[in-house]
Amino acid sequence: MDTIILGIESSCDDTSAAVIKNGVLLSNVVANQAVHEAYGGVVPELASRAHQQNIVPVVNEALKRANVTKDQLSAVAFTRGPGLMGSLLVGVSFAKGFARALNIPMVDVNHLNGHVLAHFIKEPDEETAQPKFPFLCLLVSGGNSQIILVKSYSEMEVLGQTIDDAAGEAIDKCSKVMGLGYPGGPIVDRLARQGNPKAFTFNKPQIPGYNYSFSGLKTSFLYSLREYLKEDPDFIEHHKNDLAASLEATIVDILMSKLRKVAKDYNIKEVAVAGGVSANNGLRNAFREHAAKYGWNIYIPKFGYTTDNAAMIAITGYFKYLNKDYCPMELPAFSRVTI
Ligand code: KG4
Repeated sequence: MDTIILGIESSCDDTSAAVIKNGVLLSNVVANQAVHEAYGGVVPELASRAHQQNIVPVVNEALKRANVTKDQLSAVAFTRGPGLMGSLLVGVSFAKGFARALNIPMVDVNHLNGHVLAHFIKEPDEETAQPKFPFLCLLVSGGNSQIILVKSYSEMEVLGQTIDDAAGEAIDKCSKVMGLGYPGGPIVDRLARQGNPKAFTFNKPQIPGYNYSFSGLKTSFLYSLREYLKEDPDFIEHHKNDLAASLEATIVDILMSKLRKVAKDYNIKEVAVAGGVSANNGLRNAFREHAAKYGWNIYIPKFGYTTDNAAMIAITGYFKYLNKDYCPMELPAFSRVTI
């Protein structure tokens, strides 16, 4: 019998639904929320309202594109957390209602596990290399910067993580300081391609072990900019490409130096990257350079699977479903949860 999983993701500002049949992705629908752009960041109340409007059409569209009817579903997988509570509640409540009405099991998915297992999303008629266990995954998003040792589909250990801001948060905040718009990541990425990464230097954190810190860099960026602006009020306009390139290079350097350390200490050459910031071209290039220099086998997700999507929730739910790892109806959403 076929195993067909509906995945639902609503942890932040993307409402998404996906259908996976026997481990193969049939559809992945994502509705982004433009409403936050005017505020320069995600407004939680507006996010949950938008999820409420989007969830039914998005799920219907995912089923339609997959050519699957509700009564063919084996289970509903949903993001339990971490994320914004109001946003999570929309997906969790919807999944509960759906599973109850169809009398099928529910599978709760940790959003962070989902990002890591995005590397196992299989598209029809496509062979993509998948990481072999154990592998390391650099998970970098707007809310997380972690180095994870992935031992199996279900066993993951966080070896290092940020003690303050996440890498994506640092990029977004620096971009806001430059008046570039939100989210800053893709804008900084675009500008950086035309800039000199060595034009400016910013403070790098000196933290022992495998942890990260990005708040000092953010302050260093802000203070340097203030000094330059005293000399030239149009400094940002004149130097935005170099500023973006230097900021990106600093962040990539911080991320890769700790990852190198872990890879060496654990003697692992299977190295993956995941999360929104893995869309960054500078980071992707750094991965390719490390593969060539250190013999790493690298795994970089397709652009569509870097940011929040339900395909990664559905595939994670699929693996849990095969283990009969279902969750009870009473399970609440969790805004804070680690791997
Ligand atoms: O994983 P994600 O979609 O959301 C969560 O935080 O869960 O990640 C969003 C983050 C934002 O900080 C955004 O600016 C960053 O990913 N981002 C990028 C790029 N695309 C998205 N950062 C750098 N370069 C990019 N191309």
